[in-house]
Amino acid sequence: MKPSTRDQLFKFWNTTQCYFELAREANLTLTPEREKALTYIPEGSLVLDVGCGSAEMGAHVSKSSKYIGIDISLLGIQMARTYQNNHFHVLVGDAAFLPFLEGSCDVVISTHSLEHFLPPQQVLDQMIHVLKPKGRLVLIADNFDCIFKQPPSLKYALKRPFGKARYLIRQLFKQVGLTLSSKATYFETISRPSVLIDGAYTADTDTVYVVSTREVIRYLRSQDLRIMYTAQRTRYDPMPGQDRWADRFIKNPLRRSRLFRAISKYWIDLFIVAEKP
Ligand SMILES: C[S@@+](CC[C@H](N)C(=O)[O-])C[C@H]1O[C@@H](n2cnc3c(N)ncnc32)[C@H](O)[C@@H]1O
Repeated sequence: MKPSTRDQLFKFWNTTQCYFELAREANLTLTPEREKALTYIPEGSLVLDVGCGSAEMGAHVSKSSKYIGIDISLLGIQMARTYQNNHFHVLVGDAAFLPFLEGSCDVVISTHSLEHFLPPQQVLDQMIHVLKPKGRLVLIADNFDCIFKQPPSLKYALKRPFGKARYLIRQLFKQVGLTLSSKATYFETISRPSVLIDGAYTADTDTVYVVSTREVIRYLRSQDLRIMYTAQRTRYDPMPGQDRWADRFIKNPLRRSRLFRAISKYWIDLFIVAEKP
């Protein structure tokens, strides 16, 4: 029997050392978004980092709080152990089955991992489950609400005849659905991310969830969480992955309109802080 996409990805993360080396290199300096995420962690909290990788966030969090990182990759967790201290613990485990008691964590964070989780909705449910009442969920991830930004893992699907057009139309319908219906959620996943075809890794070719900030916010609200913060775009910055013709379209006066500003707040990376009731 052919292993499932999930099993193949687990094998990929457990055998691809360069994946974690590249991430460590990129994560050694604290980006402004990570710095901001840290401000939502009250001192002395018990913090669970889901999909922690080599746990650079843990090196910062454990200075003032108790940090537990969990990741499916033994390679990532072995690298993370270099940050070991009394407030820093890491373990190998699946985010879809978190081995923690209900209501046991003050803060659950997850940085740039949501787009890699299968199944994403179950992982969100697990994160909410382990949070204490009034606990905080801090999520940072890629976001594909802008239909011109496509997951690199769809490389081959987009190259098929009409592949790009089909993707754009599907995304457009999804966006309209998310705007019109108060209940719409899709949690659309990619059945065969390109890293499983290529073997070799380039950035984000292992993305499986086509993340939508709107969808995640809607889902968290449906679970009674209160959105404390979500990133907003205040001016136009070109986005990586955006098509050139889309760029030209955006550079016209439309971009100064209220409509543009309303839409484009969903075009930057997902950054959500939510509080459990
Ligand atoms: C792009 S890395 C992000 C790592 C780190 N959080 C960071 O900010 O750099 C995504 C991580 O998600 C982990 N991951 C993917 N699916 C997982 C699952 N079901 N359970 C736990 N970890 C998972 C991968 O092993 C990988 O380390």
